[in-house]
Amino acid sequence: MSFLKPILLQICLFLFFKFSIDEANDNNQLEYLSHSCSTNKTFPPNTTYESNLHTLLTSFSSVAATAEFYNTTFSGGDATGETIYGMFMCRGDIKSQKCQNCIEMATQKIALSCPNSKEAIIWYHECMVRYSNRSFFSTVDEWPRPKYISHHETSSITTEGSYGWLLATTLNDAIAEAAKSANANKKFATKHVSLGGFQNVYTLVQCTPDLSSQDCSKCLNDVMKDIPICCLGTDGGMVLYPSCNLMFGLHRFYSDANLPINWYQLPKPFVGKPLSEYDSILASWLQ
Ligand SMILES: *[C@@H]1O[C@H](CO)[C@@H](O)[C@H](O)[C@H]1NC(C)=O
Ligand SMILES: *[C@@H]1O[C@H](CO)[C@@H](O)[C@H](O)[C@H]1NC(C)=O
Ligand SMILES: *[C@@H]1O[C@H](CO)[C@@H](O)[C@H](O)[C@H]1NC(C)=O
Ligand SMILES: *[C@@H]1O[C@H](CO)[C@@H](O)[C@H](O)[C@H]1NC(C)=O
Repeated sequence: MSFLKPILLQICLFLFFKFSIDEANDNNQLEYLSHSCSTNKTFPPNTTYESNLHTLLTSFSSVAATAEFYNTTFSGGDATGETIYGMFMCRGDIKSQKCQNCIEMATQKIALSCPNSKEAIIWYHECMVRYSNRSFFSTVDEWPRPKYISHHETSSITTEGSYGWLLATTLNDAIAEAAKSANANKKFATKHVSLGGFQNVYTLVQCTPDLSSQDCSKCLNDVMKDIPICCLGTDGGMVLYPSCNLMFGLHRFYSDANLPINWYQLPKPFVGKPLSEYDSILASWLQ
């Protein structure tokens, strides 16, 4: 048996080495998704609004060291109408260091991408940053709403008959849990369910925690109505609203997931065609 020892050692070293690489990569794997800038609401350079925006974005990077959600208001200067409202939120499952990295990247990218917009939003897969000259706290905002699907060559849905139904009930459970969360700083839930065999479907939902339970539930139920026309029949789907978001996939994409997922954004005026095999579940889904 002694000849096994070097092999076992090698396996251990390999596992350790691979583990360290994954850990090291972890913080770098921030996935930019989408942004939107107001083009009809802009501010001129060298205004109080511009310096308030700068103060806001700078504060985000440092606050993100200890918070996964933050909303604030800056009204420095004496001019009226220069007040800026801002918010950031990290995905509920990511670690503090990664949250901070994400907010740092997102604030830099949005400052470059939307140089004179009064209102803007940016999504990474791991976090979101938004600001406006109107107060949007405790308000359900549902536009813009980018949508994504994912595809893996290797996966196939083997239980098509019950897939839509299982996905819908799992998402509904997750929505109920996120909405009634007692944590004032987090309205978030993940759920997974077996589709039979070795195939699981994973779901994740989140609201900005400034929403009431009722508003969180409304927002996510509105997202649910988008799923049949965008993302059913794919390996994964993701719909992002400013106030809430929903993701699902046949591959685990949250927490300690180690398989990279490629998300493809759907073209803007996308009108999906419901797949006939899902027709029967659409009625109950849309209730
Ligand atoms: C700016 O455009 C958006 C979207 O087209 C519209 O909803 C909004 O009312 C406009 N705002 C102003 C101040 O014109
Ligand atoms: C803005 O302020 C800077 C520094 O005070 C100045 O150099 C620049 O010319 C100003 N830009 C405009 C458009 O007023
Ligand atoms: C953050 O949002 C809450 C909920 O709407 C609001 O009551 C609070 O004033 C906001 N905080 C700041 C600093 O604007
Ligand atoms: C935000 O800015 C737009 C255009 O610059 C202006 O029409 C609107 O009244 C402002 N909103 C608030 C709440 O001040």
